[in-house]
Order: sequence, then C-alpha cells, then structure tokens
Amino acid sequence: MPEKRISIFGLGYVGSVSAACFARMGIRVIGVDIDDNKVSSMNRGHSPVLEDGLDLLMAEQHQAGRLHATTNVAEAVNESSISLICVGTPSAPNGSLDMTYVSRVCEQIGVILKEKLNQPDGYHVVVIRSTVLPGTVEQSLTPILEKASGKRSGADFGVVQNPEFLREGSAIDDFFNPPKTVIGASDERAATLVASLYEGIEAPTFITTIGVASVVKYADNAFHAVKVTFGNEIGRFCKHFGVDSHEVMRIFCEDRKLNISPAYLTPGFAFGGSCLPKDVRALLYGARTADLELPLVSSLLPSNELQVRELIDRLMPYRLEGIGFLGLSFKPGTDDMRESPMVKVVEALLGRGADVRIHDPYLRLSELVGSNLRYLMTEIPHIGNLLKESAKDVIRSSKAIVVSHRTDAFQEAVKGVREDQILFDLVRLDDTDAIKAEYHGLYW
Ligand SMILES: NC(=O)c1ccc[n+]([C@@H]2O[C@H](COP(=O)([O-])OP(=O)(O)OC[C@H]3O[C@@H](n4cnc5c(N)ncnc54)[C@H](O)[C@@H]3O)[C@@H](O)[C@H]2O)c1
Repeated sequence: MPEKRISIFGLGYVGSVSAACFARMGIRVIGVDIDDNKVSSMNRGHSPVLEDGLDLLMAEQHQAGRLHATTNVAEAVNESSISLICVGTPSAPNGSLDMTYVSRVCEQIGVILKEKLNQPDGYHVVVIRSTVLPGTVEQSLTPILEKASGKRSGADFGVVQNPEFLREGSAIDDFFNPPKTVIGASDERAATLVASLYEGIEAPTFITTIGVASVVKYADNAFHAVKVTFGNEIGRFCKHFGVDSHEVMRIFCEDRKLNISPAYLTPGFAFGGSCLPKDVRALLYGARTADLELPLVSSLLPSNELQVRELIDRLMPYRLEGIGFLGLSFKPGTDDMRESPMVKVVEALLGRGADVRIHDPYLRLSELVGSNLRYLMTEIPHIGNLLKESAKDVIRSSKAIVVSHRTDAFQEAVKGVREDQILFDLVRLDDTDAIKAEYHGLYW
C-alpha cells in the first residue's frame, strides 16, 4: 500500500494539531503557512501554537521524519494527494466571515493542480477543514479551484468539507477520540480517499453532502452555546428560589429519553399543547417576579409564534380556493386542542376569509369536555361546519392541503392528491417524490 501523504494549509490551532496527529497515524504530512516563523518552528520540531501535549507530539513526529513544513505551495501540493485547508475564517463585525484566506489558498492550490492532475497518479482532493457557511464550498471555493486548474470537481479532482470538532486545550485527545467524523464530498472517490485518513479512529463516520457537513458544524456549535446558556439561565432561576441548580441539572441530564436524546430535535412545526407553552410562560413569570432576565427562555414563545405566522403567510394565497387540514391537534393520538398551533393557523385564516375544511381522526366534538371544549369553541366557534369525516373529503375539495400529523393514514391519503393541488408537509412524509401535487416541505 503506498504511503499516505497530505499537505495542511494553515498552521494555526486546527492545522498544527491535525498535522501532528495525522503524522502519528503514520501519514506523511507537509505543513504550509505564509508565516515563516510558524514554518521554521515546525521544521525545528516545535509546535507553532500552544496546545497541551502538542510540542512533544510534534517533536516526536518531526524526528520520525513524518512532519515538515514549507511556504512553497507547489512543493506541498505535488508531494501529497490530499490538501487540507485549515486557514482562518475570522468574523467581521456584522457576523459575516472573511473568506480572503480560504479563497486565496484555493486559488494557489488550483494553479498547481493544473499540471498535477495531468500526471498519471496526479489525482488530488482538496479538503476544507475551515468552518464556512453552506453554499461557500459549492458556489465560491469550487469555482475558484476549477477556474485556476481548468479541471472539474467531482470528475478530475475532489472537494470535501470535513469539519473539525476539536476543543482547544484537549485538542489531541479530541482528534483521536472525536464525537464523529463527517465527510461531505463532491463524489464517492474523494469521500473514500478522505475516509481512509481516519482508519483506526473509532468514531461514527458520516459520508454526506458538502452542504450537510457544513451545517452540522454550525448546528453543533449553536447547540453547545444553547446548552451553556440554558444551564446558566436555569441556574439563575434556581438560585433565586433557593434551589440547588446542580442537583436540578444532574437529574435533568439523567433523563436520556426526553432530555439528552434526539427527542424534540427534528425540524418540524411549532410546539403546542397544554404543557409546553403554559410552563414556559409560568417559568418566565416566576423570573419576572424576581427581576431575573432569561433571554434564551424568553425567546422560545416568540420564535414559536413566528413559525405559526410564517405558515399563515404561506397559506394565504390559497384562502379563497380552499385550504384543507389533515390534523388539528398539536400531535396525533390526542384530542387535546388547547394551544394547538394548528388551531391558531385555522383561526387566523378564517379571520381573513379563508375557505377551510379539517379532518382529524381523534377529534370528536361530541366527546370534548371542559377547558378543551371551551378553548376550541372560543378559537373556532363554527368548527362543527368545517369538520370532514375523512381525509379523502378534505383532499377532494381543497386547493392547498396541510398535513400536520405523521400517521400511516395520512401517508396513504396523500397518494390521492391531484397535480393541480398544493401539498404543505409539516411532518416530512415518506416517499414524497411519488406525490403528484406541487410539494412544499416545511423546512426541507
Ligand atoms: N480553533 C479551534 O478550536 C477550531 C475548531 C474547529 C474549527 N475551527 C475552524 O478552523 C479554521 C482555522 O482555525 P484556527 O483557529 O486554526 O486559525 P488560526 O488563525 O489559528 O490559524 C490560521 C493559520 O492560517 C495561516 N494562513 C493564512 N493564509 C494562509 C495561506 N494563504 N497559506 C497558508 N497558510 C495561511 C495563518 O498564518 C495562520 O497560521 C477556522 O475556520 C476555524 O473557525 C477552529
């Protein structure tokens, strides 16, 4: 098996750690930086950045002859089959990313690939390790590489987005024990070559699209930020009420069924029901009485309402031709209509003169009682006139159909929608390619 050789562009935190760690895995690594000091530091076996254990690892790998650095792009690209780009993507004051460094490196690599790709064993993959927004690799960096090289990504060479999940301070351990390996690739050949770099590292590996790989990184970091802030806001709330916040969050984290789990994390429509909105409001009321600000928790109901408003806006154009709803309660399997976001959507559309019909297999008006009945009658007083016996009845007479329950019955029913109809899927139905209507997935 030929020796694996990679070049790493940018010898900052990510690049230096990656260089030393890949070298320890037996891969020959050439580091590249525009900063002479970083290059000569690596060539003396010293780490260009301060990171626990990195100096020692770099010295070892340098001595073993697997690690050296250069400022010469041609040398680095020609002596490797994979180039990992780890240059900075600093934040501008408006939150946008400065892509100057990544773009420049792509252009430099592309120029060298023009000749290299003509060689019999010249195949090359360019891997973006830097964190960039979705669309950047496909719409900006790939065209730069293609223009400079005169070759085509996915055919003549490969482009991969391979985000880095290391944390400064424990970066070496994180490199060898990552939570996952994510490879978003232009094509299978490129994905397989990059995956081979990680042979020996035990972690779930996901081969996916470049777009997914790039958003996974942002979703991860946004979620980490949400977790820190959530823990802190619950902590502030607890402190005021004399409750031990660490005990609360210890018990919270023990719940692997609903809390630390995939539950509630699938993109879909707004939350509702008799508990979530009420309890969030009560928690915020408790905080207000103590003059505590909880900005993250305070943002939940406005964000939820925004989703309701957006759906109303998307349905408005069809209000006169007829809108049908499959599912009215906040989730299937219940007739609890209290604070169902779908009830709000229907109520708003009726208020704007929409022609509406509804089928919900769990809703039996004659069986509703108490606050549930009162709520529904207040929000949609003439609900009785809108209810249909079957999904078929709703579909037959509607221009636009909204599916808000993910059930086998509705999955079957939507097979009957016609080409001249519009289907709004709030639950990501299966087999949507077979749907004849104009299909609109909520967030997909
Ligand atoms: N630091 C982290 O913990 C971390 C973790 C995951 C992802 N990331 C992402 O990885 C990327 C790199 O982050 P970092 O913290 O290592 O950056 P950094 O600023 O520490 O290092 C960037 C390096 O790139 C070099 N460089 C700039 N232009 C170059 C060029 N044309 N050719 C070669 N080298 C060039 C710079 O001299 C510098 O040494 C960023 O997109 C960052 O968001 C960082």
